[in-house]
Amino acid sequence: MTLVAELSALVPGATVLPEGERAAPYERDESGLGRYPPQAVVLARSVDDVVAVLRYSREKRLPVVPRGAGTGKSGGALAERGGIVLSLEKMDRIVEVSRADMVCVVQPGVVLETLQKAVEEQRLFYPPDPNSQAMCSIGGNLAHNAGGPRAVKYGVTSNYVLALEAVLPDGTVVRTGHRSWKGVAGYDLTHLLVGSEGTLAVITEATLKLIPLPRRVETLLAVFPDEDAAAGAVQAIFDAGLLPRACELFDGPTMRAVGPRAPFKFPDGVGGALLIEHDGHGDGVTEELARSGELCTSQGALEVLAAQDEAQRRKLWETRRMVSVALTDIRPFKISEDVAVPRGQLIEMIRAVRRIGEKHGFPTASYGHAGDGNLHVNLLFRGADERARGEAAIDEVIETAIRLGGTITGEHGVGLAKRRFLRKEQGEAVVALQKRLKRAFDPDDLLNPGKIFP
Ligand code: LAC
Ligand code: ZN
Repeated sequence: MTLVAELSALVPGATVLPEGERAAPYERDESGLGRYPPQAVVLARSVDDVVAVLRYSREKRLPVVPRGAGTGKSGGALAERGGIVLSLEKMDRIVEVSRADMVCVVQPGVVLETLQKAVEEQRLFYPPDPNSQAMCSIGGNLAHNAGGPRAVKYGVTSNYVLALEAVLPDGTVVRTGHRSWKGVAGYDLTHLLVGSEGTLAVITEATLKLIPLPRRVETLLAVFPDEDAAAGAVQAIFDAGLLPRACELFDGPTMRAVGPRAPFKFPDGVGGALLIEHDGHGDGVTEELARSGELCTSQGALEVLAAQDEAQRRKLWETRRMVSVALTDIRPFKISEDVAVPRGQLIEMIRAVRRIGEKHGFPTASYGHAGDGNLHVNLLFRGADERARGEAAIDEVIETAIRLGGTITGEHGVGLAKRRFLRKEQGEAVVALQKRLKRAFDPDDLLNPGKIFP
């Protein structure tokens, strides 16, 4: 029997796609790392399907690559060594939203925005908000410990994970954690699995913590003559004791790319911007936003636009969300990095990126979650032939982030894209310890092999 026929017989409730046209969407993700065709794709519909596929993978010694919505930016869901792609997209039920316990129970295929709407209807809040929220699924968010603009105030995915149901590579179903908000028994396996990029187990259900939905949200966009002034304002805002729920920075090249597409006309001479958002439950929110606006002005802002209503607020966020696409107006190709540095080193990091770009002859554009020092650094180039030279420049960006006390990835994960840098950040002993953990879970190295580690 062929692989596809065997799998179809094994998991009759699931959909099994053979290599070829219908499987094509499963060959790629949003990392730009190219196509990696699997030999088969299984769309699981139950935990039993997941168990069956993992047992089969062991028996046949075939790699299995778990996959969410395919919006990952580091290649974590690519079938680099072929084998079976195990998609969780059909396991997309919101099992429960409990106001009494302030938790929800979800399957991994639930699209983030769907979950957010469902809990917000009940005046509850699930804060993590990667930019892909309209497409990405909770399973992928758990695998990569996704962040987003609101992480600066509310933390990342792992801060909201209370319990998991997961299938180990040998087919054993385990439940880790607890439904209570508190609990410290034993090793924290829940948070070992979160961010393990599908290399240790396949998550089939998650219990997530919810908090009260803030009743007020207010937003402003401040534009500056240059990015250094914008980064200076970030320091001033935190220094004043404010904690915005979003603090997003755009550097000069980013503003020049976004300008023609934005729903606003920016003043001449704009070379940087900050998108600041405060939230809470009372009038204090308006005061905090006004204070942030004043601090921007005192740091040299040319203009501060405060959204007067929800429609204007949405437009300000549209400006932020269009960045990635707008950058292709400058150059058609880019290498996108995701470094994070301590907040106090932000200006230094931005300056270093500019220097590195100039030295190697590439335009750069940096933007992102300045409040937590997480910058999306983009190296822009014209043709595929320039990529190798670009990679050398990127090495310097990464080295700078590490030297400044930061990390190679603030939120996108290591996957394939950053594994060659892991040792540089963490050192041999820590990489070796993680590899021992990987072997303890997956002695045959069949579950998402080759990811994370150099
Ligand atoms: C963003 C994605 C790239 O923040 O993380 O736009
Ligand atoms: Zn981001």
